[in-house]
Amino acid sequence: MRFHVLTIFPEFLESPLKEGIIRRALQGGSIEVHLSNIRDFALDKHSMTDDRPFGGGEGMVMKPEPLAAAIRKARAQCADSHVVLLSPQGRKYDQDVAAELARSEKDLILVCGRYEGVDERIRQNFIDEEISIGDYILTGGELAAMVIIDSVTRLLPGVLGCAGSAEYDTFSRGGLKFPQYTRPSVFEGHPVPEVLLSGDHEKISNWRFAAAVQMTKEKRPDLLADMAFSNEQLQVLADHGVFLGYTGTGKEKN
Ligand SMILES: C[S@@+](CC[C@H](N)C(=O)[O-])C[C@H]1O[C@@H](n2cnc3c(N)ncnc32)[C@H](O)[C@@H]1O
Repeated sequence: MRFHVLTIFPEFLESPLKEGIIRRALQGGSIEVHLSNIRDFALDKHSMTDDRPFGGGEGMVMKPEPLAAAIRKARAQCADSHVVLLSPQGRKYDQDVAAELARSEKDLILVCGRYEGVDERIRQNFIDEEISIGDYILTGGELAAMVIIDSVTRLLPGVLGCAGSAEYDTFSRGGLKFPQYTRPSVFEGHPVPEVLLSGDHEKISNWRFAAAVQMTKEKRPDLLADMAFSNEQLQVLADHGVFLGYTGTGKEKN
């Protein structure tokens, strides 16, 4: 998968690309990340990428010409592309959107705004989709672009060391992930649940399933509304003392 990040601060992304799983994905060829400096496409000798807003008002707006040239160049390097403007006004980013992008065969062109944002004509004529990473305002789109690169990359085949590990992540099955423990088996007087030491895979799997649902019920009850359970699963939950207050599918919750 190829990511093209268009930004006036390419150095901003260099450090996170040098660490951990993302570094390994780059080295192994699962992803390519091309950082492009929008300033290189400025038309004037001062490499201006922003200007005052027509009609007056606060702050500066990113000029259309350098952005248009940067997007055109990035597009020309792709067989097929999806141009995303990072924006607090966009579709709210979540694990489903990450999975959708990871499945796509297209190169992702991530356009990072700064200042008061980009000239509206760029959004209207050059952008396939706006994505927001949450209802808060960042100083620029670079962190949001990195969030997308990071979360999409770990879903690509072969990127995570342990196949199937993303499958059990929080949100991947609708709810939260089960709690996890590592050695020592007793820490400051607190033992790990005994079942995890039993070596009985079925019992462990059932305990984890029930614990995950219990966690979801406690921390994110809103997610339960969209989760459906088979009768067998409801029985496992009941056996572990987890009661949802309804039977059948999540949609029937009252
Ligand atoms: C200071 S913000 C501009 C906010 C704009 N004045 C507004 O009120 O909608 C500068 C840039 O940061 C990025 N940005 C800010 N918040 C974001 C968010 N929640 N998700 C994605 N990108 C964001 C966008 O690229 C935006 O153009």
